[in-house]
Amino acid sequence: MTRLEGAPTDAVVPALTGEAGVRALVELLRGRRVVGLVGAGCSTASGIPDYRGPTTRNKARNPIQYRTFVGDDAGRRRYWARAVVGWPRFRESRPNPAHRALAELEQTGVIAGLISQNVDRLHHAAGSRRVVELHGALHEVECLACRRVETRDSLQARLLRLNPGWDRLGVEQAPDGDAELPLALVERFVLAGCEGCGGVLKPRVVFFGESVPPEVTADAWSLLDEAEVLLVVGSSLTVFSGFRFVRKAAQRGIPVAVINLGPTRGDPLVQLRVDDRVEQILPALAAGLA
Ligand SMILES: NC(=O)c1ccc[n+]([C@@H]2O[C@H](COP(=O)([O-])OP(=O)(O)OC[C@H]3O[C@@H](n4cnc5c(N)ncnc54)[C@H](O)[C@@H]3O)[C@@H](O)[C@H]2O)c1
Ligand SMILES: [Zn+2]
Repeated sequence: MTRLEGAPTDAVVPALTGEAGVRALVELLRGRRVVGLVGAGCSTASGIPDYRGPTTRNKARNPIQYRTFVGDDAGRRRYWARAVVGWPRFRESRPNPAHRALAELEQTGVIAGLISQNVDRLHHAAGSRRVVELHGALHEVECLACRRVETRDSLQARLLRLNPGWDRLGVEQAPDGDAELPLALVERFVLAGCEGCGGVLKPRVVFFGESVPPEVTADAWSLLDEAEVLLVVGSSLTVFSGFRFVRKAAQRGIPVAVINLGPTRGDPLVQLRVDDRVEQILPALAAGLA
């Protein structure tokens, strides 16, 4: 039976763990230019939950859709009410050893750059320089009418003036700077508009149902062009905007390695799977390549 080049096979390589995983990664990455494709699993050790991890998988939680946000005052109120509660902890998150190892690997010339699906800006905080924020970051908001940009901290202060005490509600933190809140509370939340024109403000992140801006996609593709190995770090690859880089690498015959707890959508396309914690594997990898 013939197979199209780069097409998925049913054969998934067995996953390695621990030192065996590190050794195999060192062997694959040594002397090759690496591009990282990072997901939410890189930040769980910083206290930011993922969407589809071992403990989150069965939680029925639907992140807001772009249509709900732009088309509907109630949806927007619900988003911002939760976001105001979640922001203080989210912005206080600090890089973990995985982020620091990725920054070190860039400094030592192993990593050319990162395509990150995360919106937490922790790669920058760790010292990574070339980072394509594929889905944006929560640190700025933009007016949908006049495109004026405001920092999230500035908007947070305005929202707290309109909704005193909201930052002190004791509720569980959910993924991407969000939090769970009872509906009755949400209905009382007062929204803030653009300071320039009163228009609707949206965080500069790509919501579900929205596409990645073309200039960001172009940056990510040109970074991928430099890759001799694609290293996936803590992503289930469920979201197509990330998965497509794995697919393209496989089509081009570029080896793909994955460090992730549990299976990913890319598994049939990858040469090496390490099923272990990124905050343990990456520092060991950086040491092994030093
Ligand atoms: N930190 C953030 O900015 C953040 C957090 C949640 C969601 N998101 C957004 O939601 C989308 C989610 O897709 P995704 O693929 O990035 O995440 P995902 O939640 O679909 O997958 C995360 C994967 O990481 C694994 N994982 C969790 N902790 C790990 C660890 N310590 N070491 C190794 N693996 C670990 C999980 O098992 C899971 O397979 C992204 O596009 C992103 O924009 C961002
Ligand atoms: Zn405006």
